Formats: sequence, structure tokens, C-alpha cells
Amino acid sequence: MEIVCQSERLLARRWREDDAETLYAIYREPKVVEFLGVAPTPSLEVQRERIPGLLRTYERYGEGFGVWAMQRKEDGVVVGTIMLKHLPYDKEQLSEHIEIGWHLGVPHWGQGYATEMAEAMLAYGFKRQGCHEIHCVVEPGNDRSVAVAKRLGMTELERTTKYYDGLELHHLLMTKEAWSALHTPT
Ligand SMILES: CC(C)(COP(=O)(O)OP(=O)(O)OC[C@H]1O[C@@H](n2cnc3c(N)ncnc32)[C@H](O)[C@@H]1OP(=O)(O)O)[C@@H](O)C(=O)NCCC(=O)NCCS
Repeated sequence: MEIVCQSERLLARRWREDDAETLYAIYREPKVVEFLGVAPTPSLEVQRERIPGLLRTYERYGEGFGVWAMQRKEDGVVVGTIMLKHLPYDKEQLSEHIEIGWHLGVPHWGQGYATEMAEAMLAYGFKRQGCHEIHCVVEPGNDRSVAVAKRLGMTELERTTKYYDGLELHHLLMTKEAWSALHTPT
């Protein structure tokens, strides 16, 4: 298994064909998709049909960017999704800006997993992928997600309508300089 990046309790790896049941357990939950602009996944069958599209994202975003499974090291349980990828203007057009994002299965909320994995993903983005800035966009009302971005030290900018088909979104940013300052021992 190729590990994209890892933290104390978690690692990020590519999604696989045999992850359908895990993905279904996460994305069938209305609470998980409430602010994602999609309906809960209706069946395991539909989830299976969606896997090839998910795997194609590794080519779409290019080397080193993508949407990955967030797996607990202790027991191999997949607790959610972590992503580092190009922000889309719309379904067809990707921007040159890189966004970080996180989704957890409901049983795994409240344990610090999203923040911990995102910390490792920011380090991967700045140190391995050569990013100069990493964005985060969040639908208004998704306070738990904004809280993750703030715990990471991201700065809140004015709301944006540039991405995701003009939707109005919270817009948070981490620059490489700000990240380096936060991670330089004093
Ligand atoms: C957004 C989302 C990932 C946030 O999950 P979360 O569990 O609140 O965030 P974290 O994993 O960082 O956990 C933080 C919480 O765990 C607690 N925690 C417990 N044990 C911890 C530990 N060992 N270390 C750190 N925090 C810990 C923290 O105190 C914090 O609790 P609080 O919410 O009461 O302040 C989750 O709500 C989700 O998946 N939502 C649906 C998908 C979604 O909308 N994604 C964002 C799209 S923009």
C-alpha cells in the first residue's frame, strides 16, 4: 500500500475497488453530505458504480493530488476522506488553486481525526507538492468544518463565489509562509 502522508494515528492512501462498502457507510449518511451539495448515496450498488470515477480523479488532478481514504493505523479502519486537489470553477474547469478538504464517517466525529490528518496533508502540500498556498472552501452553516480550518491556523478571507459554480462559500487560506511560521520551533 502506498502511503500519501501520515500522522500519529492516521494515514492517507488511494481509494480502491474494494472500498465500496466503506464509502457507502460514510456517504449514505445525511449528516455527512448536508453541506456537500450532493444527496446521500442511495445504495451500495450506486456506490460501486461510482468507484471508477473516483479512481479516475488520480489522473484528473495529476501526480500527487487527489481524494484519498483516511485510514486509522491501529486497526486499518477507514474513518473518512482527505483531499488535496485543484479547486473547480465548475464541473468542467479546474482552477490552478489547490484546496484541502475532509469528510469523516459520523461515528468518527469528535476525535480530532480531521484536524490531525489535515495537518499532515498541509505538510505534504507545502513540503512535497511545492504548493505556495492552500485554500479551503466551506458552505455557510458548516461550522464544524470551519472549526477544523481555524484549528489548523488558516486565515478566513471574504466569502467567495469564484468556485463550485458560483456558490457562496467561506474562504480560508494557508500560505506557505504562514504555515512555515507556525511550524518553526521557537
Ligand atoms: C467537518 C468534519 C470533518 C469535522 O469533524 P470533527 O470531528 O468536528 O473535527 P475533528 O476530527 O478535527 O475533531 C475535533 C473534535 O474532536 C475533539 N477531540 C477528541 N479527541 C481528540 C484528540 N485526541 N485530538 C484532538 N481533538 C480531539 C476536539 O476537542 C474537537 O471537539 P469539539 O468539536 O467538541 O470542539 C465532520 O463534521 C464531517 O465529516 N462533516 C461532514 C463532511 C463535511 O461537511 N466536510 C467539510 C466540507 S467543507
